[in-house]
Amino acid sequence: MTCVSPEGRITPGCPGLYDPAHEAAWRRIVDFVHAETRAKICCQIGHSGRKGSTRLGWEGMDAPLEEGNWEVMSASAIAWSEANAVPREMSRADMDQVRSEFVASVEMAARAGFDMIELHAAHGYLISSFISPVSNLRQDAYGGSLENRMRFPLEVFAAMRAAWPEDRPMAVRISANDWVGEDGVTPEEAVEIARAFSMAGADIIDVSAGQTTPEARPVYGRMFQTPFSDRIRNEAGIATMAVGNIYEADHANSILMAGRADLVCLARPHLADPYWTLHAGAAIGDRHAAWPLPYLAGRDQLWRLADREAEAVRV
Ligand SMILES: Cc1cc2nc3c(=O)[nH]c(=O)nc-3n(C[C@H](O)[C@H](O)[C@H](O)COP(=O)(O)O)c2cc1C
Repeated sequence: MTCVSPEGRITPGCPGLYDPAHEAAWRRIVDFVHAETRAKICCQIGHSGRKGSTRLGWEGMDAPLEEGNWEVMSASAIAWSEANAVPREMSRADMDQVRSEFVASVEMAARAGFDMIELHAAHGYLISSFISPVSNLRQDAYGGSLENRMRFPLEVFAAMRAAWPEDRPMAVRISANDWVGEDGVTPEEAVEIARAFSMAGADIIDVSAGQTTPEARPVYGRMFQTPFSDRIRNEAGIATMAVGNIYEADHANSILMAGRADLVCLARPHLADPYWTLHAGAAIGDRHAAWPLPYLAGRDQLWRLADREAEAVRV
């Protein structure tokens, strides 16, 4: 997540898009991607809300900073856990401020040349804290019914859509299940959440789940969140991305071929191997992938070895 303000960071190590220096730095990265590859690059923007002011992930996930904590805010004044600070319940003035920060980030992302922008409305961060009843106990027009809980998230999304070039796509990442049964967002309600963002102009819904409350009891497994993407795509007719414990080329291809998603995202496999996609493609016989020119010798050897292995399996 690229953060829309200093207070919107999750940790002091998070990337941002709220200063002219950030825009210039991103421009350099985006230009490099476009010059050297055929890849498209998307910027996910978000605000941490009540899960902000915490340590780097590998120094204590969701744990408050040892010093230099900043004030956090959220839909309601409920701390993420006993260890975290109680957030300020957002006022209407706070909402105006945050909405304009999202718009400013969108404008910077457009000028930096990103191909797509994604609103992070999942995982318990600020926008997600409005959508989920586990973190939104507001008594005003922004809490209660799903329509009310979606009011501020949709307002932010609409402002982003108006600022983002019409010919470039937009995505929204949602948590399609709070994993607390009927007390939270259910996969059924997620279809309505996706529909609302789609009606507001989202081109694709990035279907994640959970991380909205420490009370969650997720059921993990191979491709465990794909059923939620499947449901949104096929019940509401909305384009989706599937994510979550997808780690083999066969997983990705079977999700796509079975019509369970339009795009597949892999996170941790790419941390272990940034060339995962090129390697997986080579292993299953894809000979059309574009490799950076300086790597062609590596590509040719990999393809030869993959062909030899496939031949040995056939024999
Ligand atoms: C180190 C790390 C950082 C992550 N950062 C983000 C993030 O900024 N935004 C987001 O939506 N998800 C983030 N995620 C979640 C991943 O996008 C993904 O949903 C999750 O890892 C499950 O997919 P995987 O099994 O392919 O890793 C992160 C995951 C990891 C491991």
